[in-house]
Amino acid sequence: MSESETAFEQRYSAALDLYLATPSEVLLHTAYALGREAAADGLGVVDIAMLHNEAMQRVITTPGAAPTAAMIGTASQFLSECLAPYEMMLRAYAENNVRLVASIDRLQDTRAALAAVNQELEAFSYSVAHDLRAPLRSVLGFSTALLEDHADQLNDEGRRFLRYMAESAREMARLIEDLLTLSRATRGDLQREHVDVSALAHKVIGRLMADQPERRVAVTIEPGLAARCDARLLTIVLDNLIGNAWKFTSRRTDASITVGGLEDAGQPAWFVRDNGAGFDMAYADKLFGVFQRLHSADEFGGTGIGLATVRRVIGRHRGRVWGEGVVGQGATFYFTLGEHNAKNGGR
Ligand SMILES: Nc1ncnc2c1ncn2[C@@H]1O[C@H](COP(=O)(O)OP(=O)(O)OP(=O)(O)O)[C@@H](O)[C@H]1O
Ligand SMILES: [Mg+2]
Repeated sequence: MSESETAFEQRYSAALDLYLATPSEVLLHTAYALGREAAADGLGVVDIAMLHNEAMQRVITTPGAAPTAAMIGTASQFLSECLAPYEMMLRAYAENNVRLVASIDRLQDTRAALAAVNQELEAFSYSVAHDLRAPLRSVLGFSTALLEDHADQLNDEGRRFLRYMAESAREMARLIEDLLTLSRATRGDLQREHVDVSALAHKVIGRLMADQPERRVAVTIEPGLAARCDARLLTIVLDNLIGNAWKFTSRRTDASITVGGLEDAGQPAWFVRDNGAGFDMAYADKLFGVFQRLHSADEFGGTGIGLATVRRVIGRHRGRVWGEGVVGQGATFYFTLGEHNAKNGGR
């Protein structure tokens, strides 16, 4: 209780005691007047009402001090005065509530409309990307056939142009495949199951090693990493994060990649760490946007869709993904997979 509350209580009790010694309506009014004064001073209305209630109990139970009808009338008026500010507050709350519910409704409508438009766009870009594959295959097929079967009919410059053409078509095919993967990351049901993250990471690294057996990379994968998530989608995440670690360490002779688990704010998290090119933390959020790249294509190839896909997959799991890097020293990408995962630091 605050100092002013204690002072009020003492004054109120004193007035009441006086009334109880010589019951009179005037004295009771004095006590109530004190209560009003205290309420006007901003004292807790509930405290006053409780005090008042106690006082009434004392009045009723003290022999010879039984209240008259007029006193009871005054008492209830006092109580309603005490409660009036509450009533006003409650009315204001109720009005705000109605407004809030209305704006939530509007928001939900907007969200639903946005989701519908998004879905339409998604379906559109998926079918565009999908339909581009066939004509591109024919460009690639015919340019390859031309190079293989009719190269002697062209001069050096012609052959060079044709090789550029085939290489560009291959690049476009890669881009289309990446766009389709990005699109697929949002489609289909999310099916959570127990996933052996360590085993999956070994598989991803195995594929990279088979692709580039000449590379020497020290790989450490923490054993026993597990998660409850969509296995197909987590494969996309690890393909991209470990693929990036593999790619951005390609200029190092002492390349190393670590896959591990830890706890982030009580939630299990997983990470992929490398000692490669790293990046400037000023752009740490930008990396997750589509086509956002910090390194030139000459330095490290890529289309800039990988991390955008990772973010979508993690978003669908209601998780979080973030990266930390130091230019020239390496990068670490962390992710969580939503509340379905036990607090065990990814183990
Ligand atoms: N491990 C990493 N080390 C340093 N930079 C990274 C790392 N991972 C991502 N980046 C930076 O973030 C950018 C975006 O990554 P993202 O995976 O989306 O694209 P990408 O690897 O360039 O192309 P893609 O994955 O589509 O083939 C990269 O171009 C690079 O600049
Ligand atoms: Mg990538």
